[in-house]
Amino acid sequence: MSLLEVRDVSRSFGGVRALDAVSLDVEEGSVVGLIGPNGAGKTTLFNVVSGLLLADAGSVRFAGDEIGRLSPHRRAALGIGRSFQNLGLMLDETVAFNVMTALHRSAPYTGPDVLLRPWLRNRGDRALEQRCAWALQRFGLLADRERRVRDLSFARARFAELAAVTAEAPRLMLLDEPTTGLDLAEVSRLDAVLGQLRRDGTTILLVAHDVRFVMGVCDHVYVLAEGRMLAQGPPRVVQAHPAVVEAYLGTPARAG
Ligand SMILES: Nc1ncnc2c1ncn2[C@@H]1O[C@H](COP(=O)(O)OP(=O)(O)OP(=O)(O)O)[C@@H](O)[C@H]1O
Ligand SMILES: [Mg+2]
Repeated sequence: MSLLEVRDVSRSFGGVRALDAVSLDVEEGSVVGLIGPNGAGKTTLFNVVSGLLLADAGSVRFAGDEIGRLSPHRRAALGIGRSFQNLGLMLDETVAFNVMTALHRSAPYTGPDVLLRPWLRNRGDRALEQRCAWALQRFGLLADRERRVRDLSFARARFAELAAVTAEAPRLMLLDEPTTGLDLAEVSRLDAVLGQLRRDGTTILLVAHDVRFVMGVCDHVYVLAEGRMLAQGPPRVVQAHPAVVEAYLGTPARAG
């Protein structure tokens, strides 16, 4: 049984079929890549898995259970964490506040509780603060913990987001273009952290336009184009797939 099983998922926006009977499996403990041109449906698939969007048809199973109608909070509590293509952080809050908020998000109470019943925040604070510090350290962010996200470079803000996601210790991490805007040294830091996470047993599904990065870190790669799954397999196989070379790898990779 795969940790994540997406079966025949479709989702349209008006006349646009963003996902057309898409299936995908992520084995527990693996790092799986999802590539494809702009508008292929990658982020839509992440939204359907994390619960920000409901599929029109098809099923999403996590650890054997159907989760396709659950709220994003319920899915986070089950162990699905994610990062966003355009940073899912509160820019005017500090790095530490963002990480602590994420830690509360995966706690067994809801987002409105955190806002409306702030005393819940104080429960078990010490343990959470330790997890927060550990996550920040992992990304070299301890010195920035009290800085506002808005005042950080894009790469450091991206790391702050990844620290927030990893602090939750999700069983499955969905990373939407984590390498975009990072320089080579930063990409290699990310690479190292992903290696640690996988050694800790975290399962990772990631979208990236940096094909070399994807082929380097992933065990298995899926290729989406115009809402349909075009190919899948180990990186070597996918890289050589004629339809992939033509539809995706043959065209220059997008910079941003
Ligand atoms: N909320 C929305 N409302 C309307 N159309 C949408 C919405 N979200 C996505 N789409 C459309 O669905 C299609 C897939 O978009 P999606 O963002 O999933 O692609 P993507 O593969 O993540 O692209 P990119 O590489 O540019 O991030 C596109 O045609 C997009 O315009
Ligand atoms: Mg996207």
